[in-house]
Amino acid sequence: MTARFPVARPRRLRRTPALRRMVAQTRLSPADLVLPMFVKEGIGEPHPIPSMPGVHQHTRESLRKAAHDAVEAGVGGLLLFGVPAVKDGVGSAGDDPDGVVQTALRDLSSDLGDATVIMSDLCMDEFTDHGHCGILTGTGEIDNDATLERYASIAVAQAAAGAAVVAPSGMMDGQVGAIRTALDGAGHHDVAILAYSAKYSSAYYGPFRDAAECAPQFGDRASHQQDPANAEEALLEVRMDLDEGADMVMVKPAGPYLDIIRRVRDDVRVPVAAYQVSGEYSMIEAAAANGWVDRERAILESLTAIRRAGADIVLTYWAADVARTLSR
Ligand code: PBG
Repeated sequence: MTARFPVARPRRLRRTPALRRMVAQTRLSPADLVLPMFVKEGIGEPHPIPSMPGVHQHTRESLRKAAHDAVEAGVGGLLLFGVPAVKDGVGSAGDDPDGVVQTALRDLSSDLGDATVIMSDLCMDEFTDHGHCGILTGTGEIDNDATLERYASIAVAQAAAGAAVVAPSGMMDGQVGAIRTALDGAGHHDVAILAYSAKYSSAYYGPFRDAAECAPQFGDRASHQQDPANAEEALLEVRMDLDEGADMVMVKPAGPYLDIIRRVRDDVRVPVAAYQVSGEYSMIEAAAANGWVDRERAILESLTAIRRAGADIVLTYWAADVARTLSR
């Protein structure tokens, strides 16, 4: 006789919070989360970033305090961005030993030592007056190979100042190899590279460009960042970065590119990071501020989805907040 009712009932395991917790297939933990932070030279008070409620451009001192608090909350690492007081065509502040990023890296490594992983974004857009990620030719195009020399020098300056990991985000061809060679040549064999391998040309970076004051003064980044239409190309970029010496690879943005995260995770044997970018952050904050979504649930769901897609490490502006929520 056939059963009148379903024999298999997946709902049995969804009945109570304890059952759901026991069978959860994805977990978020503070150690997987990395907090991106901004430090600005020459300001007296931290500046709130209007398009990123809850995120600040820090002063040297407020950065130390916020970094300490984030580490106490249990975040896995910090990723530093700096805004210099003076910008020029070649991004001189980027490799100045007394530049804003290098000063902050020395502060953080003396305050925090090995208690966390101190990482620095490695690009030129924060340091150039034109806001582009590299050296420009006379006609305003990016000179890929001249830019590599600048990245190499910035990498060495960041490593000397205490970065344990440098994260090149400029999407220049050959950047990982150039940086690895420079780091090794300067004796920084142990400094790791987290390559922004599959970085898409994305509208979701909008609020970040306020935070880092790095909007391009003309043109856009479509000649070097990836076309959102392409997936195979992401796997190519990842393979090339690994061949050049990347220790970890990143997909960016995260939420709109979950398919890419999964494909990269299946393709490589190194840690895969995903960057939940400023626009992903601000959309949820804006909707929550209007009462349109439940803020905490939307945040945790977005991060769980990124982890479920295969990211081992998630860079998120909510890292410290969520670390506190998770240990509540
Ligand atoms: C480039 C860089 C960008 C972001 C991280 N590194 C901006 C860009 O490529 O225009 C974006 C991060 C975010 O939106 O949160 N240095």
